[in-house]
Amino acid sequence: MSLFFSFFFFFFIIPQLSFAQQQLLSFNISHSPWLPSQNKTLISPNTNFTAGFFPIPNSQNLFTFSVWFTKVPKTSNPVIWNASISPLNLSTSLVITSKGELLLNGEPLRNSHTSSNSTQLFLSNIGNLSFGTWSSFHNPTNTILPNQVITGIELYSLDGKFKFNNSQSLVLNSSNVQYYSTPSQLISMDDEGKMNMAGNSFLTSDYGDNRFRKLVLDDDGDLRIYSFYPDQQNKWFMVWKGIWEMCLIKGKCGPNAICMPRDDSDASTYCVCPSGFSPNNGGPENGCTRKIQLSRNTDFVRLDYVNYTSSIMNQINAGNFTICQSNCRTDSTCLGFGFKYDGSGYCVLLQGPQLQYGYWSPGTETAMFLKVDQSESEASNFIGMSEVLQTTCPVKISLPLPPKDSNTTTRNIVIICVLFAAEFISAVAFFWSFLKRYIKYRDMATTLGLELLPAGGPKRFTYTELKAATNDFSNLIGRGGFGDVYKGELPDHRVVAVKCLKNVAGGDAEFWAEVTIIARMHHLNLVRLWGFCAEKGQRILVYEYIPGGSLDKYLFKLRPLKGSSSGDSDSNTEQKPVMDWNVRYRIGLGVARAIAYLHEECLEWVLHCDIKPENILIGDDFCPKISDFGLAKLRKKEDMVTMSRRRGTPGYMAPEWITADPITSKADVYSFGMVLLELVSGVRNFEIQESEVRSEEWYFPGWAFDKMFREMKVEDILDGQIRDVYDSRAHFEMVNRMVKTAMWCLQDRPELRPTMGKVAKMLEGTVEISEPKKPTVFFLGEE
Ligand SMILES: *[C@@H]1O[C@H](CO)[C@@H](O)[C@H](O)[C@H]1NC(C)=O
Ligand SMILES: *[C@@H]1O[C@H](CO)[C@@H](O)[C@H](O)[C@H]1NC(C)=O
Ligand SMILES: *[C@@H]1O[C@H](CO)[C@@H](O)[C@H](O)[C@H]1NC(C)=O
Ligand SMILES: *[C@@H]1O[C@H](CO)[C@@H](O)[C@H](O)[C@H]1NC(C)=O
Ligand SMILES: *[C@@H]1O[C@H](CO)[C@@H](O)[C@H](O)[C@H]1NC(C)=O
Ligand SMILES: *[C@@H]1O[C@H](CO)[C@@H](O)[C@H](O)[C@H]1NC(C)=O
Ligand SMILES: *[C@@H]1O[C@H](CO)[C@@H](O)[C@H](O)[C@H]1NC(C)=O
Ligand SMILES: *[C@@H]1O[C@H](CO)[C@@H](O)[C@H](O)[C@H]1NC(C)=O
Ligand SMILES: *[C@@H]1O[C@H](CO)[C@@H](O)[C@H](O)[C@H]1NC(C)=O
Ligand SMILES: *[C@@H]1O[C@H](CO)[C@@H](O)[C@H](O)[C@H]1NC(C)=O
Ligand SMILES: *[C@@H]1O[C@H](CO)[C@@H](O)[C@H](O)[C@H]1NC(C)=O
Repeated sequence: MSLFFSFFFFFFIIPQLSFAQQQLLSFNISHSPWLPSQNKTLISPNTNFTAGFFPIPNSQNLFTFSVWFTKVPKTSNPVIWNASISPLNLSTSLVITSKGELLLNGEPLRNSHTSSNSTQLFLSNIGNLSFGTWSSFHNPTNTILPNQVITGIELYSLDGKFKFNNSQSLVLNSSNVQYYSTPSQLISMDDEGKMNMAGNSFLTSDYGDNRFRKLVLDDDGDLRIYSFYPDQQNKWFMVWKGIWEMCLIKGKCGPNAICMPRDDSDASTYCVCPSGFSPNNGGPENGCTRKIQLSRNTDFVRLDYVNYTSSIMNQINAGNFTICQSNCRTDSTCLGFGFKYDGSGYCVLLQGPQLQYGYWSPGTETAMFLKVDQSESEASNFIGMSEVLQTTCPVKISLPLPPKDSNTTTRNIVIICVLFAAEFISAVAFFWSFLKRYIKYRDMATTLGLELLPAGGPKRFTYTELKAATNDFSNLIGRGGFGDVYKGELPDHRVVAVKCLKNVAGGDAEFWAEVTIIARMHHLNLVRLWGFCAEKGQRILVYEYIPGGSLDKYLFKLRPLKGSSSGDSDSNTEQKPVMDWNVRYRIGLGVARAIAYLHEECLEWVLHCDIKPENILIGDDFCPKISDFGLAKLRKKEDMVTMSRRRGTPGYMAPEWITADPITSKADVYSFGMVLLELVSGVRNFEIQESEVRSEEWYFPGWAFDKMFREMKVEDILDGQIRDVYDSRAHFEMVNRMVKTAMWCLQDRPELRPTMGKVAKMLEGTVEISEPKKPTVFFLGEE
């Protein structure tokens, strides 16, 4: 390799040998002027970066003066820095003057007038284009590279609309309103995709050093990290983003309008006007106006899951809804109020001239009540909450927070700081380079018994602590696909399920990075991860304990799923109560919401991939909780290969696991559809009893489809245990919605299945469900 590089260098540095393509290691006065028509580039010594005139794709003779990744194809967006915003034509020139100035078309480069006085332009191995004291790293466009110092630089989206303020928060430049903040100031991203922050905390993206990365403030206002694997698919993969719900980004819609996420895409949004309002000229993007001006008598229109911002947001302690409402009604500056139905009395009065930055998100858990005139009769266009209140966990269980162990933490910070200081001050560089080469820094940290501090991450337990908590791992409550699960109790009396993982890939840091991601997932319908232990080769996860056991115990008559891993629930064999229709519907909806959350919050690579009744635990009041999400990624590579395309459980696996189609989030949608159908039928999809209908081609979803929509014999597919209590007037609507939604989830082609977000809305009844096609694939999977 090095032989190749030396040959490469020899070949190109010597100008006499220059061919049509001239690659410089530095640009100086003797090469001046530099014109777009010359095939001249400035290259970093390691060849990873190139600077020069970059032809703008699909343009004729228009260029930017840019820095780009040499090995990223021109068609795959390799540019990381532009000297100017406006395109350059063929008569452009870059010159170094005898006075030591660098001029592009006679003008200094971005802010270069400030101090630069030099003779040569260089491009460093990490992509820093520098001329004297001026550098592209200090004057970035919208992109940050690994090793670039983030603190103290200004970063804008290319259109200038959004700004990364003080290396910490994202703001809408025009109004300076903040919509996102990292836990603390970013310092830089390292070669392994870790973003170091002030206070020795950090954020992780994908892990590994064999790829190119960039951190970009995109034009849609989100901050993302992209990875590019040379020689693989030739595209950038998004591996981290600051904001998951695009509507949380301010400035997408005008005053009074409400931002909505598009169902069919992660990143796009649209604006709608609330009831009683009509769009301004140019549509709701430009805002909305009240149709009927307020008179003396006012009323309120309820908008579920909507939140607004106003210049004065006055949170008051109203005991109940009536008090909250009358506070707003009597206040003429009050434009509306937000109220939570969770019994907490949360009440916010929105006062001030205007309602802005409206958005819809289930995460708000709030209903917004907009003041309208009493004569306004239009029904609300944001509904769904009252159904939800009756349909998911009515009691919001408040979980105790893990106690902080601040003493050791502070000590570790001090030690780490001292180490850092030592690194810079110490003249004994040899010691450090030795360590750096042979043990990576974090390994050293572990060796010394230190730990880097996650940003609000899960607690790290010692093996001894967990041994004590589980009474020496004596109370085995389940054997899951990922390892054995023990019940235990922490010293603060929280009851936990301790899962000892087997066959886990990767080193401590990688494990830790994954666990942090899993622990970040907070949802009422997900089992919470409280902590972990990575010690002496052990890989242990500490979860909240869910007493009810798994869904299969309730649905099926004690026939464990053979040939596959069972869940982690109690393995006791007590007969569980039979669940009524409302409970089943609630469970379906809760699970749909949690998967939708997982798909939205986590990128594709944290798909659950194994949705089945065993992995749905039943909490208090039949509140469903998904377990084992995110674990698939921890598996050893060998395991993945032998399991190859068999990661799911037969019967719940989408057809694309067997066909050659790529596995996407739609595979989870399929598995969920099967579970939903089983909630209705109370029978395993591949074990249904009706022997007379079984044959080689028999396929449960297809059969259910015919019964439901062709023969109209709904009763035939209902769970025999509660068929008698089925009352077509009371339950048809609900069962019909469940089955129809399931049919959409079970479509053969992944692209025909709705996204999980849409599925949740179908179940809620907030979107209309069109007639599904009959699922036809006969598919049981290999046993
Ligand atoms: C630059 O390269 C292109 C093709 O790569 C060639 O057509 C053109 O003649 C070259 N121009 C110069 C000045 O060498
Ligand atoms: C410019 O760089 C070339 C090598 O690329 C070198 O031979 C030459 O002496 C330099 N000229 C000046 C004025 O520094
Ligand atoms: C180029 O970048 C890649 C990816 O960051 C890195 O692995 C490689 O070491 C770099 N090449 C050189 C010659 O430094
Ligand atoms: C550079 O400019 C080009 C053309 O205007 C644009 O397409 C590209 O996104 C810009 N890239 C950066 C990093 O500024
Ligand atoms: C090229 O751009 C420069 C500066 O933007 C402008 O003054 C000049 O007229 C342009 N030349 C052509 C041929 O378009
Ligand atoms: C730039 O540096 C040269 C030589 O180092 C010096 O003669 C010249 O005065 C400097 N120019 C400015 C503007 O500082
Ligand atoms: C980039 O170049 C400038 C100017 O030479 C220098 O001051 C700065 O330290 C460099 N940045 C990095 C991260 O190497
Ligand atoms: C950001 O806003 C400030 C103040 O409104 C304005 O001066 C500046 O030009 C804006 N920046 C960009 C890049 O648009
Ligand atoms: C920008 O950051 C500074 C320093 O943290 C802070 O004081 C200021 O409020 C921030 N601006 C906005 C609009 O958030
Ligand atoms: C709300 O609280 C007030 C004062 O505590 C009480 O008078 C009123 O009856 C309550 N209203 C409802 C609907 O509970
Ligand atoms: C609603 O938006 C405001 C302003 O951005 C924010 O402070 C508040 O926490 C939000 N409320 C909810 C329930 O998300």
